[in-house]
Amino acid sequence: MVILGLGDLGHGRYEPSCGQVVRAQVTSVEGLGQFAPVDETLIKDLLIPKPLHGPTLPQSADERLQDPCSRLPTGPLHSGCRRPSSQFIGTAGQSDQGEAGCARAVIDEEAILGCVLIAQITDLHIDEPGGFMRRFVDANAKLERAIDYLHTRVERPDAVLATGDLTNDGRPEQFDLLRALLDRLEIPIYLIPGNHDEREGFRSAFSDRPWMPPSGPIDYVIEDFPVRLVGMDTSEPDRHDGTLDDGQLAWLDATLSREPSKPTLLFLHHPPFLSGLWLFDAIRLGGSEGLRTVVEGHPQVTQIIAGHVHRPISYHWGTTMITTCPSTTHQSRCDLDPEEGAGVTDDPPMLQFHRWTGEGFITHTTTFEPAASTIEISESVSDWDSAKRRILAGPPFPKGAGGVF
Ligand SMILES: [Fe+2]
Ligand SMILES: [Fe+2]
Repeated sequence: MVILGLGDLGHGRYEPSCGQVVRAQVTSVEGLGQFAPVDETLIKDLLIPKPLHGPTLPQSADERLQDPCSRLPTGPLHSGCRRPSSQFIGTAGQSDQGEAGCARAVIDEEAILGCVLIAQITDLHIDEPGGFMRRFVDANAKLERAIDYLHTRVERPDAVLATGDLTNDGRPEQFDLLRALLDRLEIPIYLIPGNHDEREGFRSAFSDRPWMPPSGPIDYVIEDFPVRLVGMDTSEPDRHDGTLDDGQLAWLDATLSREPSKPTLLFLHHPPFLSGLWLFDAIRLGGSEGLRTVVEGHPQVTQIIAGHVHRPISYHWGTTMITTCPSTTHQSRCDLDPEEGAGVTDDPPMLQFHRWTGEGFITHTTTFEPAASTIEISESVSDWDSAKRRILAGPPFPKGAGGVF
């Protein structure tokens, strides 16, 4: 294992003692790896070669300090968004002293603000009173909170995608509870079933939706946004693993061929990769090789989003990106080895936002529960209105008196 330290290793101004503290903390970790360049003196001090158990890293600290910005994307970003302008993505931590901050004008700020915002909720596991999913973590109460959270956002999402395992057992009573909860949602929602749902029960519960196919897998397209939304049903009756059969893949190929230049988001329940979570890999998606062949023939498929694994994972997969969303109720432990067992946790319930920038999606993962403790930065700055204007003006952003913090 190699550990990368990516900035903000210390707090505020660099002092040698700070470097010593950081080093004392990390030298007990086997396989100490590589630190992002934030301060040459600090990093050189830290980068005393250690035995590595992972891939070989560059041996020279100077090598590692060369042009940290060279790996950042550059160039104009957007096409198809409503408003143009510019912003940045940085790398070095803001609290680290040194000249290696490498902010670059790479993101179009107003384009981001002006484009489609999609919320993803997944693995709701709605259950009846007294059911297991109400006792360990109350799945129904969590969905209510998720809806409240979405309603109170300053910017409401344009759409919500619910990516399967919407009920815990697919019983009609559970779909009734799900419908009752979702009827309160004031944002358009598009749903697909997962392995815990029964396809025909799902079809019956949402038969009033215009996108619902009258028979067969729940595959459909939403054309209402600058980005096409393609939902696919990976559920397989009486099985926890999933499939996409030849007919579905042919449907997807034909569907994508009709709009080859329109950016497309594909949403499904089972992610089409081996996640490394050994338990979930046993109930993975069959037919994923066929899906990859189809998707690679249609590079407008900018991202595939999934659920099922109850964890946030991202993976660059051929010509596209796959992300998975944590559950709105319980999460799965990061069990990468059968020796670690297989755990389900009450880690915070979460959802994701996928912001279309005109070039790709930026995915945010967040809990919708209030934090136990929060510090409002505005309360520690004497003139927040001025500070906020200064922040919104963007880089360069000097430390100290010229900056805000
Ligand atoms: Fe699930
Ligand atoms: Fe699932």
